[in-house]
Amino acid sequence: MSERLMGAFERPFCGSLRAADIGRRVELVGWVRRRRNLGGIVFVDLRDREGWAQVLLRDALRDAGEALSQEDVVRVVGTVAARSADTVNPEMPTGEIEVIAERVELLTAAETPPFVVEDRVNASEELRLRYRYLDLRRPEMMATLMLRDRITFAIREYFHHAGFVEVETPVMTRSTPEGARDFLVPSRLSKGMFYALPQSPQLFKQLLQVAGLGRYVQIARCFRDEDLRADRQPEFTQVDVEASFIEEEDVYALIEGLFAKVFPVVGIDPPARFPRMTYREAMERFGSDRPDTRFGMELVELGATAAGCAFEVLRKAATGGRVKGIVIPGGAAFSRKQLDDLSESVKPFGAPGALWFRKTADGYGSPAKKALGDDGVAAFLAAAGAGEGDLLVVVGGAPKVVFAALGALRIEFGRKLDMIAPGAHAFLWVTEFPLLEWDEATARWYATHHPFTAPNPADLARLESDPGAVRARAYDVVMDGVELGGGSIRIHDPELQRRVFAALSIDEAQARHKFGFLLDAFRYGAPPHGGLALGLDRMVMLMAGRDSIRDVIAFPKTTAGNCLLTDAPNTVDEAQLRELGIRLS
Ligand code: AMO
Repeated sequence: MSERLMGAFERPFCGSLRAADIGRRVELVGWVRRRRNLGGIVFVDLRDREGWAQVLLRDALRDAGEALSQEDVVRVVGTVAARSADTVNPEMPTGEIEVIAERVELLTAAETPPFVVEDRVNASEELRLRYRYLDLRRPEMMATLMLRDRITFAIREYFHHAGFVEVETPVMTRSTPEGARDFLVPSRLSKGMFYALPQSPQLFKQLLQVAGLGRYVQIARCFRDEDLRADRQPEFTQVDVEASFIEEEDVYALIEGLFAKVFPVVGIDPPARFPRMTYREAMERFGSDRPDTRFGMELVELGATAAGCAFEVLRKAATGGRVKGIVIPGGAAFSRKQLDDLSESVKPFGAPGALWFRKTADGYGSPAKKALGDDGVAAFLAAAGAGEGDLLVVVGGAPKVVFAALGALRIEFGRKLDMIAPGAHAFLWVTEFPLLEWDEATARWYATHHPFTAPNPADLARLESDPGAVRARAYDVVMDGVELGGGSIRIHDPELQRRVFAALSIDEAQARHKFGFLLDAFRYGAPPHGGLALGLDRMVMLMAGRDSIRDVIAFPKTTAGNCLLTDAPNTVDEAQLRELGIRLS
């Protein structure tokens, strides 16, 4: 190895050289981004994680420069010089300088990469994931990785100063049921037995409160075997928080304080206090428990109009369920195909279709016009506040279906019609979630959040008589229509926990089998406690302005749950299976 000019950690990054470095003799290491030959001088853009700098190789170094190819790993010793006025590039952070090389050394030659390592990449996501290390070499991906580090650092710093202690909880554990399937890990020592990877550290963070830790935080990896989407990965990271002797207001203030510290890292200034909206109001107005409040187009109530109308389908829907609509500004001009698509797009939510109403220069229009007549159509438009040129879209049926279908349409058209002001952000707390949700398929109640969430004391008397009406002391924090996090004040009284288990049809024996350790812990002095967990990947996604959490996770999985880089999941040896006592059918 040739003589070193400076220690590895004293070396500047190529991408961080500035005019202030002019005259400095430096050693640089990096990857060849580009090489050009201009008038007998070889220009090499040398790239590292911070960006790139232009290096000049001339005279005796020209041949060495000519021999370099893209992505070769190179060390250069040289002097930082000012670029001539006509070659200054104000677009580039290093655009005022160049490095005049006096020595160049090829450390590793690279083969031609499967795609060009540039931000305007035209490779498929599949190829990028297969060669993720090259994808991450792209400046925007590297910048996102580094942004994530800055965000986690700021989060840790905030909680540390607020007296929170980071504790690592087990990754091999028994399942904490939270709605998704568990990933299981077979035990070799106890054949036929399985560990589960945690869906969240929920029970451990509660046990830490019983232990007296008081304020717990963990940047925790969680695992859920669920259907994946752009904002869901099978393994993801939570900023997991729990504290003792707290109430909802303490959690709100804690998280608002956190966001006030962390979001400015990307130039977003959240309000000091976030607006609050009950779950009920969120569903009624936006059809979603994570409403994007950056634009209007709210759901309108049409129950009364439908109940008295001459169109039987709507009249029936109004008696047995709900009838609501949204008004799409300018939508009266939609083509037949666009109108048909509306109906198709609500079907996945269980709605048989969507009805539309409009008034144009040609008069009133609606597939229900035959039954309703002009006056009937006009009545719906008036009830919805729709003007000439607007399109009223109506869905009737079970409340869940109506909310989901219209909520999704609202988001779709909010985006299509550019109703969200650029750079706008909306933070809010959604509160008063129902404690329990009825599941038709299994004909029983399930915990909306998880079984350890405390019911609202005002509703407690109804826990047995009218379980669906009991509100939980649960809350979600929502940003721009994305559920960033959720949590609750927990049950700390063993008797109340037993009542909630009973409401969930978990009998004494099952409760002992599943959560005996927690119930035992509660016998020895559990403090009142509560907390929440933020989805770190989603938070970084929104802060980085990306559409998918895959873009902010170094090595993510596809929506089919595969790691294309390592080809996981994969088969294992017969011998490994034998040792674990597993036989595949
Ligand atoms: P919850 O299940 O609501 O609560 O999860 C908290 C937050 O974690 C994020 N999240 C996910 N992110 C990426 N991929 C996933 N598959 C995924 N699933 C969830 C979301 C969500 O808001 N133990 C409770 C918290 C508590 O009560 O303190 C819990 O896990 O941003």
